[in-house]
Amino acid sequence: MSKNYRIAPSILSADFARLGEEVRAVVAAGADWIHFDVMDNHYVPNLSFGPMVCQALRKHSTVPIDVHLMVQPVDALATAFARAGADLVSFHPDASTHVDRTLQLIAAEGCQAGLVFNPAEPLDRLEWVIDKLDLILIMSVNPGFGGQGFIDSALRKIEAARRIIDASGRDIRLEVDGGIKVDNIRRVADAGADTFVAGSAVFGQPDYAAVIAAMRRELAAQPA
Ligand code: DX5
Ligand code: ZN
Repeated sequence: MSKNYRIAPSILSADFARLGEEVRAVVAAGADWIHFDVMDNHYVPNLSFGPMVCQALRKHSTVPIDVHLMVQPVDALATAFARAGADLVSFHPDASTHVDRTLQLIAAEGCQAGLVFNPAEPLDRLEWVIDKLDLILIMSVNPGFGGQGFIDSALRKIEAARRIIDASGRDIRLEVDGGIKVDNIRRVADAGADTFVAGSAVFGQPDYAAVIAAMRRELAAQPA
């Protein structure tokens, strides 16, 4: 299993009135990626920010911007975010009419491409597109809101996705999103994840560096 862990704070839980400052603060606190949650009030019942905000924040981040599209349709916004400075663009396969085509267009824009699986969504599709993936994102909450509780069935799905990635022999990140805290990150890593989204756990605390350091300590600790 990869020990090359990445922590990706979600700015959905940041102070929207000071987003540039929040991005700089969380990067200075040790964030490996900035997770950028795009919600459209159609695929999910919430509305966040679009490509213009991504473009404005790009210059505030020295780390990769990890765009998580919770939108339908997908293709036009995937392209817009790639052009707005995203490094990775992930989408929900159930939101795209032609998943393979969407993956191709993200790659053609020079971004890494990811597929996102909701809690009730099976991993079957991976068999047919794994050669086009740089990232698999397992949702451990239903998409749409920060601050929800971790859904335990995600652990089995992470294990299954880890087996699929290892069998493929490809260099694919396994990211988990939703309800990740200092006290469960280790279990998520032990199931096979290597990249961890954390929104409320990081931005809900005054000291971002302390939370990120505590997460890294959990990840580095020897199993009991
Ligand atoms: C949920 C988003 C998540 C969310 C995570 O739809 O995709 O990235 O912001 O927030 P927490 O860590 O608070 O569950
Ligand atoms: Zn997300």
